[in-house]
Amino acid sequence: MCGIVGYIGKASAPSVLISGLRRLEYRGYDSAGMAILEDGSIVVSKAPGKVSALNDKAHADWPAERFVKSSTGIAHTRWATHGPPTEVNAHPHLDESGDIALVHNGIIENYRSLRTRMEAKGHHFYSETDTEVLAHLIGDRYQGDLFQAVCDALSQVEGTFGIAVISAKEPGKIITARRGSPIVIGVGEGETIVASDASAIIAHTRQVIYLEDNDIAVVTADHVDIRDLHQIPVAREVSELGFDAAAAEKGGFAHFMLKEIHEQPDSLRNAIRGRLDFNLGSSVLSGMGTSQRDLAEIQRVVFVGCGTSLHAGLVGEYAIEDMADLHAEVQQAAEFRYRNPIIGSRDLVVAISQSGETADTLAAVREANQKGAFVMGLCNVVGSTIARETGRGVYLHAGPEISVASTKAFTCQVAVMLMMALKLGRGRRFSRDEGMKFARAIESIPELVQKVIERSDSIAAIAAKYANDEHAFFIGRGPLYPVALEGALKLKEISYIHAEGYHAAELKHGPIALLQEGTPVIALANDIPGKDKTLGNVEECRARGARILGIVTEGDHEAMEAMDDVIEIPACHPLVSTIPTVVALQLLAYHIANARGCEIDQPRNLAKSVTVE
Ligand code: F6R
Repeated sequence: MCGIVGYIGKASAPSVLISGLRRLEYRGYDSAGMAILEDGSIVVSKAPGKVSALNDKAHADWPAERFVKSSTGIAHTRWATHGPPTEVNAHPHLDESGDIALVHNGIIENYRSLRTRMEAKGHHFYSETDTEVLAHLIGDRYQGDLFQAVCDALSQVEGTFGIAVISAKEPGKIITARRGSPIVIGVGEGETIVASDASAIIAHTRQVIYLEDNDIAVVTADHVDIRDLHQIPVAREVSELGFDAAAAEKGGFAHFMLKEIHEQPDSLRNAIRGRLDFNLGSSVLSGMGTSQRDLAEIQRVVFVGCGTSLHAGLVGEYAIEDMADLHAEVQQAAEFRYRNPIIGSRDLVVAISQSGETADTLAAVREANQKGAFVMGLCNVVGSTIARETGRGVYLHAGPEISVASTKAFTCQVAVMLMMALKLGRGRRFSRDEGMKFARAIESIPELVQKVIERSDSIAAIAAKYANDEHAFFIGRGPLYPVALEGALKLKEISYIHAEGYHAAELKHGPIALLQEGTPVIALANDIPGKDKTLGNVEECRARGARILGIVTEGDHEAMEAMDDVIEIPACHPLVSTIPTVVALQLLAYHIANARGCEIDQPRNLAKSVTVE
């Protein structure tokens, strides 16, 4: 949510900043801006809209030599919180003197009172943003030492921030700090890059330092000095990024979403590799940091997450109850800390988050820690805040997910939860043989997904028939119920078709009133327990004139006959079937959105990684 890049080094700062912003654009794309240092002053360019608009504007307004000469600057791509996405509200923001420029991710919660205080001192504000207040506050505290001024200002701020600051009076340095919003520093040779995520850094270096909350750093072209807000030096290790620049590029696909859908056989292989133990009929999830004896003590598993990750948790709930005879439930991360959850030391709380930065999920982790639960993370982004704060967990190894609509993270989350269910089940219920059978079913997932991906063209042909509809219903039962929710979420977020997911039995308790002649119902009628009942629900929909697109098991003629259109999924274990089924729904959503000409990787009003409540 919003992207920050800062550069100091030997290359053209505006060019590095623009290419960094392009890589971060998935985090926010309402407006963009950059500020560079030039001959003792700060020059700013901003534009509403995408990074390409900023690039055009800067090239139109700025002399060409500025692109060659300038080697220090900061930039931002915005997802608006305070004030609409106009040029005036775009970052960077300047202090009263115009000598200090700031880019900011997060929210300054006490900005109103700070602004009133500043106005009383004669400061003038031009934007509606909370960020401009912080720029003024830093300027107000400035007495010849930018680092000191930023420390003083931040000590007065309530809320969250990841910031980068430059001053015309102190060229050759960027000050950066974080509290609740990530900052990564890329340490290159004679150049340093500050960014809100590593994809803006990878083209320059793989050596990075992750700031921790309340760290503040002075960054020069060849040095990084990190301190706390009391200016006491803190040691942060340099780590190496686990992916290369190609992983953050489209690689010949029309969209990141399509690329990431196609990557799933590989990402699933990476998520599963080395984690199945066929000798013991169990799984090896060493990151859980538990002995089999500790696991035996667990009396309940609670999944917390948001959006797609929440849907993955719902599949996990089925898997744990089914395979491990253990009470499992899912709680919306956004509600968790506000409802006084009954959680204790024998509860395993699993925080599910692709980014590892989602504010509500992080808050749930902190609440669960307070209550003494056994907390673990299930994250994709290595070194992310949730991964670090949980201290134990299982990485997805899905590789960078750039598309705003999550795809490969969901399937890897489910695969990891199936392996958790295997481990917990083996300790409680399964024999070795049963465990081995389930391990084999998990091992087959990448191949099953590959088969669905090979049907992409026929799914596109079906999608064309549904691309002009404005409403759609997704129904499913058992572990396919959360998949119905996820299918509806994928369709609505990228195609803007109003789509709802329901338990197949729930439709007749109200929503069926919305069915009319031709209303699309996407029925997940795979051949798993409950299929016959789902087929009964399909008949109820048909009787009201609905058009049915069925997801069915390969060769299941009985199910096919009940449908107007079908997408076939290879036969597999009921829990495993959630993964190839969701891949079919991802492709369906993608092809419908593509047929409607939607901006698939940057859907309206959305941004990746929601770091505000
Ligand atoms: C939907 C989507 C979101 C995220 C949600 C949680 O396609 O991507 O619903 O799943 O914002 O994000 P993470 O998993 O990063 O915590």
